Amino acid sequence: MAETLHRLRRMVGALVVAVLLPLMGASVAMADGQIVGGTRASISTYPWTVYLATTSGFQYCGGTLVAPNKVVTAAHCTEGDSPSAVRVVAGREDKQSSAGVVANVTKIWIHPNYVDATIGSDVSVLTLDRNLSYATLPIATSADSALYAAGTSARILGWGTTSSGGSASRYLLTATVPLTSNATCSSAYDEYSSTAMVCAGYTQGGTDTCQGDSGGPLVAGGKLIGITSWGNGCALAGYPGVYTRVSTYSSLITQQINS
Ligand code: ARG
Repeated sequence: MAETLHRLRRMVGALVVAVLLPLMGASVAMADGQIVGGTRASISTYPWTVYLATTSGFQYCGGTLVAPNKVVTAAHCTEGDSPSAVRVVAGREDKQSSAGVVANVTKIWIHPNYVDATIGSDVSVLTLDRNLSYATLPIATSADSALYAAGTSARILGWGTTSSGGSASRYLLTATVPLTSNATCSSAYDEYSSTAMVCAGYTQGGTDTCQGDSGGPLVAGGKLIGITSWGNGCALAGYPGVYTRVSTYSSLITQQINS
């Protein structure tokens, strides 16, 4: 039941982005040129940043290349999908270009405990049908707790909407956001789990990931420390973005990378 509702929400969300926004016109779509509060990024600077697309090419989530044929993304991005329905696009900064590579997916692993992003375990590993020749990003492990210190500046990347309920970005966007303390995040969200999640955002809001950025990277110290997962609205003061805490799941992810 919850799963059906969740999928319905995803479908409605995708429909709004796919059908209504193009009808609203490019002037609205390009209003700001941001993640929320971000700027354009060159894919050559972040070659491990990929996106998930439908077979018709519609971008709906982000991901990170962690091995030549393995992509880390969010479980809520792949839940209920068959591998044949998912494409991974790498090396393409402009969604309207044909740059880079479109890989097929041969296997979808979802964390066995995953139920809903707000409960945790929002992590999935995709196996690609080929090895890609783009640089990969190492994942944070239990030895990297220092990277999660409150105030650490972390990078977010994605092609998602540039405002809550707004239109998706044509181009890869990026911004940096400070990690919040566990205390700050648990006072914002009852659902916050300090083992499963990490939060990032400015007290005053204004910069954040948003719909369609899910599954994409949160990066600090040259490692994947988080996976874009959920939040209340986007870029709201007092409501940081919530990311899957990669270090908690690093053994399972590594197992999948080596499988
Ligand atoms: N759940 C969203 C997605 O599927 C990501 C939301 C992130 N929200 C935030 N406020 N940081 O794309």
